[in-house]
Amino acid sequence: MPIIDPTILKAQQLLTAGKVVAIPTETVYGLAGNAYNEDVILQIFKIKNRPSFDPLIVHASSIDSIKSFVKQFPPQARQLANIFWPGPLTLLLEKKSQIPDLVTAGLPTVGVRIPSHQLTRKLLSLLSFPLAAPSANPFGYISPTTVQHVNDQLGGKIPYTLEGGNCQVGIESTIIGFEQGQPTLHRLGGISVEAIEKVIGPVTGVKHATSNPRSPGRLESHYAPRVPLIIGDIQALIRQNAHKNLGILSFDKYYPAVEVKNQAVLSPSSNLDEAAKNLFSSLRTLDQLPIDVILAAYVPDKGLGKAINDRLKRAAVSYF
Ligand code: TXA
Ligand code: MG
Repeated sequence: MPIIDPTILKAQQLLTAGKVVAIPTETVYGLAGNAYNEDVILQIFKIKNRPSFDPLIVHASSIDSIKSFVKQFPPQARQLANIFWPGPLTLLLEKKSQIPDLVTAGLPTVGVRIPSHQLTRKLLSLLSFPLAAPSANPFGYISPTTVQHVNDQLGGKIPYTLEGGNCQVGIESTIIGFEQGQPTLHRLGGISVEAIEKVIGPVTGVKHATSNPRSPGRLESHYAPRVPLIIGDIQALIRQNAHKNLGILSFDKYYPAVEVKNQAVLSPSSNLDEAAKNLFSSLRTLDQLPIDVILAAYVPDKGLGKAINDRLKRAAVSYF
């Protein structure tokens, strides 16, 4: 029998004992606990300071194990799962009673996914229960893509973080629901809409958060840094804000008018996947600098660029 990484065994032990542990996934780090245990779910909400009306995503190791806690797997969900799992796609499926209402904030559907990170897949395969795991950040702040990010904010509140390096996708999973048989996009994320539509045809967008208060991931202001963030034409914004200490979050180039150490370039080679991977780390780095404002521009609105632009928009909105 192969020897199992001792760090995985430690996580397994704590989770089995009803503790909450941070785990790596390919998208962002998660704050994980036994999805069947209400007390554990309450702990997750408390540690994150998350409102109870915001449902959690449940992570599992196989489609077979998911079948034990969802009522059905519609054909289109099956098609997507076959192609994109393990990976950054969450499917909203009708839940069975094993999943407490607390997990889904009273909704009849549960968000499920099989993550692709090797350590977490191994961990899930050793557990006798699935893991409910929101992103491991305080509610409303930027999601963590490194162990350092997790420890900076939640280190004192959890007994253990399973270290799994830097998240390779860097942006949360795409969420798809199947309302009345119609595939619906609930959150842009690590699998592009184009890739999903290639498999199941057109996907409709969800109504905005104001009409759907149960999905704070869709709230206008979310993923927000503390330093105000303004989106527009960076060159023009530099001129308009010349009297301030400026930080820049740019897609692919530096701006000579601003100190290099106050600038984050998401992808010097203009690659949207690389930009997604660097987005949250760059926002966090800028947020720690002694600057008055972060100036940013939208990236090309295709592929993962759509998810990046969605996060930028929410990071900015609270300041208008
Ligand atoms: O990539 C990810 O999805 C990461 C990693 C850890 O897996 N998780 C994550 O979880 O981003 P969280 O809790 O930060 O965001 C989950 C989003 C929330 O906006 C929530 O409203 C939505 O998923 N959600 C969960 N269950 C839902 C449901 N049944 N119906 C509608 N939205 C749901
Ligand atoms: Mg989150």
